[in-house]
Amino acid sequence: MKTRAAVLWGVGQDWKVEEIELDPPKSGEVLVEMKAAGLCHSDEHMVTGDMVVPDDLRQLFELPDTFPLIGGHEGAGIVVEVGPGVTSVKPGDHVSASFIPSCGRCRYCSTGRQNLCDLGAGALNRGQILDNTSRHHLDGHDLAIMAKLGTFSQHTVVSEMSIIKVDDDLPLTAVCLVSCGVATGWGSAVERAGTAAGDTVVVVGIGGIGMNAVQGARMAGARHVIAVDPLEFKREKAMEFGATHTVASIDEAIPFVTQLTWGQMADRVIMTPGVMYGDLMKGAMTLTGKGGTCVVTAVAPMTQTESAVNLFELAMWQKEIKGTIFGSLNPRRDIPNLLSMYREGQLKLDELITKTYSLDEINDGYQDMRDGKNIRGVITF
Ligand SMILES: NC(=O)c1ccc[n+]([C@@H]2O[C@H](COP(=O)([O-])OP(=O)(O)OC[C@H]3O[C@@H](n4cnc5c(N)ncnc54)[C@H](O)[C@@H]3O)[C@@H](O)[C@H]2O)c1
Ligand SMILES: [Zn+2]
Ligand SMILES: [Zn+2]
Repeated sequence: MKTRAAVLWGVGQDWKVEEIELDPPKSGEVLVEMKAAGLCHSDEHMVTGDMVVPDDLRQLFELPDTFPLIGGHEGAGIVVEVGPGVTSVKPGDHVSASFIPSCGRCRYCSTGRQNLCDLGAGALNRGQILDNTSRHHLDGHDLAIMAKLGTFSQHTVVSEMSIIKVDDDLPLTAVCLVSCGVATGWGSAVERAGTAAGDTVVVVGIGGIGMNAVQGARMAGARHVIAVDPLEFKREKAMEFGATHTVASIDEAIPFVTQLTWGQMADRVIMTPGVMYGDLMKGAMTLTGKGGTCVVTAVAPMTQTESAVNLFELAMWQKEIKGTIFGSLNPRRDIPNLLSMYREGQLKLDELITKTYSLDEINDGYQDMRDGKNIRGVITF
């Protein structure tokens, strides 16, 4: 069939909305009509090149080219057709995307760590999960799909392992947000940082991810939630999502948190700026108190290997630094769980959407993200 998708042809380019050819689903695959796709910063890392495998590594590991690539890994839609052997969804079902697939069988899935599923390893490689061949084509090119999803496409074909059935009555824009930003931010604060009642939590970078770390920290019972962002709009909104204080920079946060905690500093620091640079760790670790935890959620340029961490303090003050993908949640349990909290009015989702865009307006949407105008921009199809 023919459909329309936003394609990236290389680093530094704009998204180009193209008519593409889409093959029917093969064994274990599903054709989904997308209804909503979130403009997460992670797709922007493909535009800037921060998350593109460098050429020397690509050659070393004999990886195919990254581009052309259909973007999008946050999304929700409706199942149109299923391939042979698909058992978890049927046509008409509403589904959330999951940017990490869950096979249910690997060492990680079988120990409650679906966010580390072995099948996630090829997320940035071309081809479908099961047979590495492409269903998406344009002018003789096989198109890669971001995180094996490609939610910036009116229709897409994905593995059954990459989608999760959700209740039909939920707005698909809300389902879309939970599929990456909400789960990642909320899980960073609640699951990975392990925020407990009475904690002081600092969240650095208040975008689609950080705002949900703020709301997760509040739900976990934090005493102080300090939201750090240079943009006034983000700081104002953070107060509506549960922040108790806001400051404009890490440099301002250090004396502020020192005074607020009588020098004890934060129990949890969550790093969710648009790009994670190594030098940000110096301030992040100063904000992290004795026995405290710093969670790094934001994506650093792939080649970044240096970071300003005082290793003496790390050991002697017993601090910990933790990475996280998908907020260390299990997509099959936690996407429906977060949606049930939304249904009960405990989790704010609709309020995260600053603006919606058509697929053709995708570059405007990303410009608004760069300009800091959106908590989250969402494409509605
Ligand atoms: N680990 C994961 O599984 C995962 C999943 C999704 C996204 N991410 C990453 O999380 C990060 C945030 O994504 P997003 O969609 O929320 O981005 P965003 O662009 O919507 O928001 C980033 C915010 O950080 C602020 N900021 C930038 N530099 C700052 C600094 N030095 N101090 C304080 N604030 C700063 C910006 O003003 C902006 O408000 C990105 O790197 C993204 O790729 C990680
Ligand atoms: Zn994302
Ligand atoms: Zn697995």
